[in-house]
Amino acid sequence: MNAQESRILAIIGQGYVGLPLAMAAVDAGWTVIGIDNFEAKVAQINSGKSPVEDISDTQLQAALVSGAYRASADFSSAAKASVITICVPTPLDEKREPDLSLLQSAATEVAPYISNETLVVSESTSYPGTLRDIIIPTVDSLKPKDSIYVYFASAPERVNPGDQVWNQKNTPRLVGAIDNASQVKALAFYESICDFAVSVSSPEVAEAAKLLENTFRLVNIALINEFTQLCAAAGINAHEVIDAASTKPYGFMPFRPGVGVGGHCIPVDPLYLTWWARQNGGRAEFVETADSINHMMPKYVAQRALELVDSSVTKPKVLILGVAYKPGVGDVRETPVSELRNHLKAQGAEVAWHDPLVINWEGSYPVTLEWECDVAILATKQPGMDIKQLILRRIQILDCTNSIHNQAGVTSL
Ligand SMILES: NC(=O)c1ccc[n+]([C@@H]2O[C@H](COP(=O)([O-])OP(=O)(O)OC[C@H]3O[C@@H](n4cnc5c(N)ncnc54)[C@H](O)[C@@H]3O)[C@@H](O)[C@H]2O)c1
Repeated sequence: MNAQESRILAIIGQGYVGLPLAMAAVDAGWTVIGIDNFEAKVAQINSGKSPVEDISDTQLQAALVSGAYRASADFSSAAKASVITICVPTPLDEKREPDLSLLQSAATEVAPYISNETLVVSESTSYPGTLRDIIIPTVDSLKPKDSIYVYFASAPERVNPGDQVWNQKNTPRLVGAIDNASQVKALAFYESICDFAVSVSSPEVAEAAKLLENTFRLVNIALINEFTQLCAAAGINAHEVIDAASTKPYGFMPFRPGVGVGGHCIPVDPLYLTWWARQNGGRAEFVETADSINHMMPKYVAQRALELVDSSVTKPKVLILGVAYKPGVGDVRETPVSELRNHLKAQGAEVAWHDPLVINWEGSYPVTLEWECDVAILATKQPGMDIKQLILRRIQILDCTNSIHNQAGVTSL
């Protein structure tokens, strides 16, 4: 059988996006090779231990035992694939500008093994033009000479780790390809895995839509973070206001305040948009403002928490509850709690943290909830965190998650 006739999928990158995609494809009848250049992760996955919360060890082990899935650090295994998807990180560099080095290296390393008539899809989030300007020239210059035709599309992943409702299968997938033949191949592939594939006219539309989706969240979170500060200064509970506004049946969507924004997407993707705007001679001022408002939140939260401590305490002890960037995951990438801890320390506080899903964080280790503190900040409400025992010990809590109501000693952000 030719590679292009096989139902073999190679996925480059086996993280929060790539591994769940692999399992969804296995469920849909594909044989999947999960390629990752981090050898320890490949070994962990092949031993049946899942590195991501959304995939259980049981599900992973079943896929391994069936022979439908294996992880590999060897890019040459992509030669048998009829579809190759790229799911590697697209972070920011030290200047907070797009860092496409991993995407570039993934394309470079897999290119020599791309068989004729293979479909190559980028699922990584990036600015419009990434597929056409970076991935395609790289692949075209390095692919085998007899791989005359390679199909290309962009289909940005929308997965929301920890989400119990929306997953790879039932979340509509945007698909934008470089030509009709590629579009037909890409739609057929995603329709075999997802309930809905949405066809758009170009890869750039798909890439831009992904940036719009996450920028929409960033600016609305910034709006509500600013609004919350205005309400708090006037003695109004912002959550009650949001609940009240939410009774309007149209034209309003509730967002909640918090310590800031974190993770690999919301704080990062909008900066791909601001960078892209500058490259085109424009400026995304509104987005830049939203970004800076969210970055001010950790300082505001630190101040609000320290105001709850008796002024006679010279070195307050602060316990941060939840350091992952959102509930249900152990992912601490870009967590705003990092800036929160820095601000608390800068104010002279002694800071400890507790998070049942995080083993170590920035070189430090969690404490138990018994740790004696003057104030606790509920930054991320993790499952399995017994807040009640702090309430019973009458510890002041600043709740940044709107999850504790009508309890003495608990102040809402
Ligand atoms: N995590 C999310 O919630 C989410 C949601 C939607 C889209 N995305 C986007 O998907 C992409 C992947 O994100 P992620 O969260 O899965 O990242 P991740 O860090 O969880 O996983 C990426 C994997 O790629 C591997 N890798 C890095 N460079 C490589 C290379 N050159 N060759 C082979 N493997 C390589 C890493 O070892 C890692 O295992 C990013 O563009 C991200 O913005 C992420």
